[in-house]
Amino acid sequence: MVMYIETGQTIPGLETVEKLALAFKVDPRWLAYGNPEPERLTTHFLGTPESDAIQMISDLQTILRTGSGTIDDTYKYLDPLGAAQWCKLLEERAFAALIEAVPLQEASAAIAALVGRQPVDVLGLGAGTARHELGLINRFLARQHSDLRLLLLDVSQSLLSMAARNAMARIPPQRNVPLLCVLGNFHFLSTYSYLFEGQGPRCKVVSMFGYTFANLEDELGFVEKNLSWLPADSLLLLDLPMVFAPAASPSEVAQRDPALSEQRPSEWRHRVEEFLTGPIHRYSGGVLDVTITKALDNRATTVPGSYTINTSASVRFADRPTGHFFMGYTKRYEVTGLAKSLQALGWNFVFHWPYASNTNMLCLFQRAKPAPKRGRTAKAQASLK
Ligand SMILES: C[S@@+](CC[C@H](N)C(=O)[O-])C[C@H]1O[C@@H](n2cnc3c(N)ncnc32)[C@H](O)[C@@H]1O
Repeated sequence: MVMYIETGQTIPGLETVEKLALAFKVDPRWLAYGNPEPERLTTHFLGTPESDAIQMISDLQTILRTGSGTIDDTYKYLDPLGAAQWCKLLEERAFAALIEAVPLQEASAAIAALVGRQPVDVLGLGAGTARHELGLINRFLARQHSDLRLLLLDVSQSLLSMAARNAMARIPPQRNVPLLCVLGNFHFLSTYSYLFEGQGPRCKVVSMFGYTFANLEDELGFVEKNLSWLPADSLLLLDLPMVFAPAASPSEVAQRDPALSEQRPSEWRHRVEEFLTGPIHRYSGGVLDVTITKALDNRATTVPGSYTINTSASVRFADRPTGHFFMGYTKRYEVTGLAKSLQALGWNFVFHWPYASNTNMLCLFQRAKPAPKRGRTAKAQASLK
């Protein structure tokens, strides 16, 4: 057969090419087509039924028409303009320096020591452009970790597409790290967590970078409801703002927290305000002006030692009474209180890495093994007697 092919008397079918490739241990695509391209990154892009942007925008318009309600964080990233304003904020000099300072090297070394040679899935929740998730993957690759997958979840189609493009650019294709992008609302994660399962057991490293956890209304409820499907030994990496003063001293907090004392650079404040108020301008007509107010609120805090900064907006309309909207939470944490709260939910504290002059921290937690059932313990103890 080889002689017939070589002398041009036969053009082999694909089946024959595949058999020959197998026998000579070469890539069948190369043998068939002479394609010199190395293996491309396999990418899958999935949507979930809950990521219904039309319904979400319609809910937002209802809130704006009513003149009161909560403009949840989800709405701010949903449309391409919101995503673009977020990207513009990421480029602001002081904000960019903060992002640059995230201690990924230290965290990835600690994670690598914990996971050993197990197959690993890095799962970025609210991954945005996936900058840090990609940083983790590349650090694992540098340690010669060979069985990795990158799983990204975000509600913004624009940011998720950008994340996929970034992954294509930053992960060397020959390292063959499969990429799964899921367009979804992480508040419903438990209903579609099966999408993130792999063939055989894989250690999950779940990350929430960019203070996403600190912006949740009920962050402990989020962990309880949406992360309970994760098996024992899974890791949770949270990127969080730290308290600027003890939560028990509100006057000190007001003085020292830059979000309350307006100490941020003016360009930072301008871009944050543009991003926050974007949905109001885009989805309601007749807006005359928007006034943003930030206030300390310790009632919203369930984690000991932490405090919350609430953001609200008063909106003057040309054709209707002034509207008042709740715009979101920014929580600041103290590590021992957070460790205690997460431990009560079955996540043991492993380590934390403060950064940017102790204003932020990366915190690592590990899912505890389930406690033995009571009946079984009693039986085991009885058998020992
Ligand atoms: C504060 S940004 C952080 C982005 C990214 N992790 C980073 O560090 O740059 C929050 C991210 O969470 C996403 N997000 C917000 N609400 C969400 C929701 N309900 N479900 C899924 N993603 C959401 C946003 O689209 C955005 O990408």
